[in-house]
Amino acid sequence: MSTRRKLIAGNWKMNMLRADGIVLAEAVAARRRVENWLPCDVLICPPSTLIAPVVAAVAGNDVAVGGQDCHAKVSGAHTGDTAAAMLKDAGCSYVIVGHSERRTDHAETDAMVKAKAAAAHAAGLVAIICIGETLAERDAGKTIDVNRTQLQGSLPEGTNANNTVIAYEPVWAIGTGRVATPEQAQEVHAVIRAELEARLGADEANKMRILYGGSMKPDNAKILLALPDVDGGLIGGASLKADDFWAIARACEDE
Ligand code: 13P
Repeated sequence: MSTRRKLIAGNWKMNMLRADGIVLAEAVAARRRVENWLPCDVLICPPSTLIAPVVAAVAGNDVAVGGQDCHAKVSGAHTGDTAAAMLKDAGCSYVIVGHSERRTDHAETDAMVKAKAAAAHAAGLVAIICIGETLAERDAGKTIDVNRTQLQGSLPEGTNANNTVIAYEPVWAIGTGRVATPEQAQEVHAVIRAELEARLGADEANKMRILYGGSMKPDNAKILLALPDVDGGLIGGASLKADDFWAIARACEDE
């Protein structure tokens, strides 16, 4: 059995206005308060406008809050961007970097993701570094190569199991209802673990959490979370309903 504590992370993406966001965060916090013994860490990544109210809504209930992106620079003339230290200052302890939606919508490269992860580390945030292949890449037999290359290019110097979480999110599984099979997920997670070992040594690689993301739902979470190299979930759609999100957290119970 793995000694890695699972991480159940909700990525709200560009959803929720203030009133509904607070209700959702309070509902998650209330469930956590009651089932505080569940063997997982719980994280909510709201849109940046809701970081402060969500931090207030979950305060004292062992629910962490994270950003969905940060800028690579510490501060300066970057209109519309958010520095990692600002997220930290607002009460975040994590930040997602390199999500495929940012790689696509904002043409983010591995080098940019690496710089953002370095900025997150410098600010004292845990970077959740996302990687994953497209359907075309999978169909072309490039899944392993693509994930290896993205991982190699996105990990900054100083990466360790305390400051970094990897999220494997096959792009074809995001928001599509089409989830990776347990075999597909475990295969890539094992490759990621091996790559981490080559880069960071066995100790750090064995301690680092690797999340699966892509249509994780209450009805498929248990089997995915039971896989040897799956250490949690990065959940989009199902994180917008407290009951669904919490059902996924509960799926950690027997692990
Ligand atoms: P869905 O759970 O909606 O497929 O989204 C996954 C994701 O992109 C989380 O970051």
